[in-house]
Formats: sequence, structure tokens, C-alpha cells
Amino acid sequence: MYFTLRPVKGERFINRQELLDEMISELRDVESTTGYALYGKRRIGKTSVLKEVQRRLESEHKIVTVYFSVWDLIEFSVVEFCQRLSMDIIDAYRPYLGLKYKAKELFQTPLTMLRKLLDSSELKIVYNELEFLIAKKRDIDKNLLVENALDLPEKLARSTGTKCILMIDEFPSISELKSDSNKIGETIIKKMRTIFENWERTTLCISGSIRSTMKLSVLSSTSPFYRQLIIKEVKPFEREYTKELLSGDIEITEEGVDEIHNFSTGIPFYIQFIGKMLERRKGASVELIKALEEEFLLEEGDILFKEEFDNLSSKERLIAINIAKGCHTPKAIASAVGDNISNVNQFLTYLEQKGYVLKREKGYYILEDPVFARWLEAL
Ligand SMILES: Nc1ncnc2c1ncn2[C@@H]1O[C@H](COP(=O)(O)OP(=O)(O)O)[C@@H](O)[C@H]1O
Ligand SMILES: [Mg+2]
Repeated sequence: MYFTLRPVKGERFINRQELLDEMISELRDVESTTGYALYGKRRIGKTSVLKEVQRRLESEHKIVTVYFSVWDLIEFSVVEFCQRLSMDIIDAYRPYLGLKYKAKELFQTPLTMLRKLLDSSELKIVYNELEFLIAKKRDIDKNLLVENALDLPEKLARSTGTKCILMIDEFPSISELKSDSNKIGETIIKKMRTIFENWERTTLCISGSIRSTMKLSVLSSTSPFYRQLIIKEVKPFEREYTKELLSGDIEITEEGVDEIHNFSTGIPFYIQFIGKMLERRKGASVELIKALEEEFLLEEGDILFKEEFDNLSSKERLIAINIAKGCHTPKAIASAVGDNISNVNQFLTYLEQKGYVLKREKGYYILEDPVFARWLEAL
């Protein structure tokens, strides 16, 4: 199976040469602490870019890359965030620290045992870190916990003479982290910014899919990371890359490429998906492709989109459907759903914040994901 729905790297990674070259030449420079903020729609390939950059930096001497995705958290608490981030950082440093055990194993070891396991001075930092994390103080100071986790890469980089590249995928979701059921994520993002400014050997690379939340943390002039990171949009594939991706495993005509490129609008996830469906069939005629696209919308679309869609409020759903059916201005939407314009505007803002709707220009709204739009249209 060549096609995949998972992030890709290595041979399977296509396109984005310029972006990768730029990121790699900056990130491998030990003198530079310039980092990157990647943004783009869901399923456009942000995680793949981070993982490919990490892969290409693997062979670099004295560069340690840590990949961490906020969406991998389970409880979504500040404590969990700090613990898992620290463990991932420690694990990335294992080769440089001569650490035989995985952070998770150490984490589950009683402190008294740990002291025996890790007595050499090299491991002192890790020990202190773990001691701090394991300490089961109920009212552990959350600020201290965050500071400690974010000091760790810098400390390890300094003591091993390396540069640490900390990749945080789906970064804006940090703002949703909870502590004793309060959201304190915003405070954490601000705190990160302060710590980040003092880093000399650590660089931050972040990504985020929802434009408005990315704006809050990075893109707007009032946001904590404004001007601290080089901002790059990860964009859809151009046709030649859609072709390159498809040609990796199937025989396909120019018309076939056109059809899939138009359907997917160059979003690699959908190209991979249709590719995967074609892989199981014979040939790749335009008729077959069209039939598979319909099948995708009917069957896979239900699995992919339904849950997300059901999580919207009934008003939001109605508005999304009407945008899909061709109403793009608040006025047109208002008359279609039988509500007033100011209410519609309010819901459009919610949909924008959730990453479903994009204000293309003043008073003109479209759906972010054209395939999702087609699925909605058929509802
Ligand atoms: N550069 C690429 N080459 C080939 N396929 C890609 C590339 N980038 C992403 N994809 C495919 O697109 C889908 C989404 O990729 P992912 O990196 O998870 O996106 P995101 O993190 O933006 O949601 C996956 O199926 C992946 O295989
Ligand atoms: Mg991703």
C-alpha cells in the first residue's frame, strides 16, 4: 500500500521543497534561535512538514529535535502537558545523556530506586526533573510546573552542547488546557513566550490549523509570539504535485489527475484517500474516479465529517449547509435560514473561530474545506 492517511516523511513526502530547505538551513544553524510557525487547514500536511524536518535533521550533529503534539494529550490538563512534554524531551536526549531507560520507565520507578539508577552527574538534571514531576504534591504550583518543563530543553541543550528544536504541533490548543477545571492555557502561552525569549539554545517550531486561534497566539500584532517566529502557510498542492503523488502507485491519465486535483483542491489528504480507493481497483478512468469520489462523499464523508458536524449547534449546522448550498453573504444566509443578520453574523463568527468558515473578504463567507462543503451540499 503506497497511499496513506497518516503523516508522511522520507520517500513518501512530496512537494514543499522550498519550505523544507529554508527551515532546515535555519534550524540546523547552531547560532540561530529563529523558529517557525506553520499554519494551514486541517489535513493540509503540517504534521508531515514537521516530521520530515525532524527526519532530515536526524543526521545533524548536535541538533536534537523533539516532536510533541498537543492533540495527543488525553486528559488535556496542564499537569499532563508538562509531564508528557518533559518525558518526550528527556527521551529525545537519551543518546546524548547515555540514558538506558525510557523516561516513562523512570517515571514509574520509585524515587529511592531512581537515585540508585541515575547517580552519575550527567544524569543529575534528569533526576531533578523527574523528582519534581513525580512529587505527588496535591497543590503543585502550576506556574512552577510549566517553568520547569520549559526550562528543561534549554538545560539539556546547555549541558550537552547541543541545540534543541522543540516542535509543538497543534500549538493553539494549549489555550484549552485545564487545571482544576479552569482554563489556564492562555496564561501558559504568555509564560512560554517569556521563557522562549530567554532561550539561547532552544528553538520553537509550532503549527496550528485553526486560523483564528493561531492568530491569537502568533499571527496578530497583540499576540504573545508576534515577530518571534517566522510564519509560513502550508498550502494545498499545485497540480504537478497532485500528479506526482498519484503517479507514485497508479497509472493515471492527465484527465484523471485533473479530476482528482479539482475534487481535492490540492489538499493532500483527499488525494491520498482517492489514491487509496483507486489502488484497490483496476484502472483509473475518469468515470471510475468520479464514482469513487461520490462513494467517498457518501460513505467515508459520513465517517470523517459527521461527528464534527454533529458537534456544532443546530443554528451553526444550518448556516454551514446554506453556505455549502451557495449563500455567501450574511444577508443571503439570513433569508435562507429565516433569522436576522446580526444573529447570523454572530454564528458566522463562531464558525470562523472553530475553523469551518473563512471570511474571504468583507461580507463574503466560504467554507474552509471544499470537500466538507460538497458533503454538506449533498445532505
Ligand atoms: N508532503 C506530502 N506528501 C504526500 N502526502 C502528504 C504530504 N503532506 C501531507 N500528506 C498527506 O495528507 C494527509 C494529512 O497530512 P498531515 O500532515 O497529517 O496534515 P495536518 O497535520 O495539516 O492535518 C495525510 O494523509 C498525509 O499522508
Ligand atoms: Mg496534524
